[in-house]
This record gives sequence, C-alpha cells and structure tokens, in this order.
Amino acid sequence: MAQEFSQRGDKTGWFEPFYVEANGNEQAIHWADMISNPGLVEWLDRQQIDGHGHKALVVGCGLGDDAEELARRGFDVVAFDISPTAISWCQQRFPDSPVHYVAMDALNVPSSWQHSFDFIFEAYTVQVLPADLHPRLASSLANCLADGGRLLVVCRGRSSDDHVAGITWSLTRENLDVFTAAGLRQIQFEDYLDHEVPPSRRFRVQYQRELPTN
Ligand SMILES: C[S@@+](CC[C@H](N)C(=O)[O-])C[C@H]1O[C@@H](n2cnc3c(N)ncnc32)[C@H](O)[C@@H]1O
Repeated sequence: MAQEFSQRGDKTGWFEPFYVEANGNEQAIHWADMISNPGLVEWLDRQQIDGHGHKALVVGCGLGDDAEELARRGFDVVAFDISPTAISWCQQRFPDSPVHYVAMDALNVPSSWQHSFDFIFEAYTVQVLPADLHPRLASSLANCLADGGRLLVVCRGRSSDDHVAGITWSLTRENLDVFTAAGLRQIQFEDYLDHEVPPSRRFRVQYQRELPTN
C-alpha cells in the first residue's frame, strides 16, 4: 500500500486507508504491540522521569499505548496521528484517558504548538516516511520543543553499508542527522538489540533544544 500511494506522489496517504481496512482488528496493524514501547519504558525508568507539571507530545501515536504510558507518569499529553481512524481507535480503547488525542499531520502542526512541549516522543514514524520528508519533519518537531525540552527518538537501526532491498523501514545514524540540522543537540545515542525473538537492532536517541544563552 505504501509503495502504491508513493508511486502516485502521495507519500503519507496510505496510513488512513490502512487503519480503515483493519476495521478494528489490531492484529492487522503489524506495528501495534498493544503495550508501551519497551524502549520508552526502560528509558523513563532509568532516567527516573516524573512527568508532573510537564507537557508531552507523542508523534504518530498509532493505537495510543505510549501516550497512555506518559500520562500514567504524570505528563500532560497531546498525542497525534495523521490517521483520524487511528485517533478514534485510541479514544475508544481509552475512553477515560486524560490524553488529548488529535488527528494531525506532523508536517503541518498548529502554530500554537510552537515551543510548547517539554518532551516529545517519536517511535517508528520517521522510518516509515520517505527520506525527502525527513528534514521537514525534524524541523517541525524541533519547533514544537520548549527551550531545554527533550526529544526521544526510537527507530529500527542499520549501518549505511547494510544491504537493503525495497522499503527498509530502518534508519542509519546519518539519516538521523536531520535532527541536529534542525538545531537540536544530540545528547545521547544508543545502538542496542531489543528483547524480541530474534532481536532487532534499534537506535534510541535523545536530543535537546538548548536554552537561550542570554
Ligand atoms: C509505524 S507506525 C508507529 C506507530 C506508533 N508510534 C507505534 O510505535 O506503534 C507510524 C505511525 O505514524 C503515523 N504517521 C505517518 N505519517 C504521519 C504524519 N505525517 N503525521 C502524523 N502521523 C503520521 C501513521 O499513521 C502510523 O500510525
């Protein structure tokens, strides 16, 4: 479906029909594990993050588990996805949730989001979008961070000389340079194997929007 839409010049158009076609069957959404991202949970536990008093933004939130994780930890969470069907699905799954779920394109976010989030979490959205959209996406997310705010990116990782055929859905370290090019400082880069069987290589990267110097 991704290839079919891309050939027509619509690079993000396939997500909504993909969720519609799933018709409420979570098993048809192959990236939906229906649990919080272990890479996020481990990171939050290690950093002993307390979200109270902080605003978080979840990018391409899918079926909502990561947004709910952040809300449980006290963050005031806005979670968005380009697919309105995914957003309704989140609202049905978590009817009493404090999370504000909204259908939105990461490439075209409202100006009211500018510099307003202390923490942004992005998992597996950049990697499913074509590389020519990455710089715009990175600068859109960087703009949403408050001064001193942090962005955490989790993605499938590969080396630039790994053999790939067709759509890869993994990123190289160099692909992630778009975030530093968007003005963020990279403060941690982790290259690790997850706990899946067989294990997959992941990158977990932390960025910060620096505080103004004066
Ligand atoms: C591979 S899925 C990952 C979903 C979720 N982050 C997770 O880890 O389960 C990518 C998600 O990004 C959403 N998406 C793709 N392009 C987007 C865009 N431009 N703006 C917002 N969401 C987007 C898709 O609808 C999909 O839910």
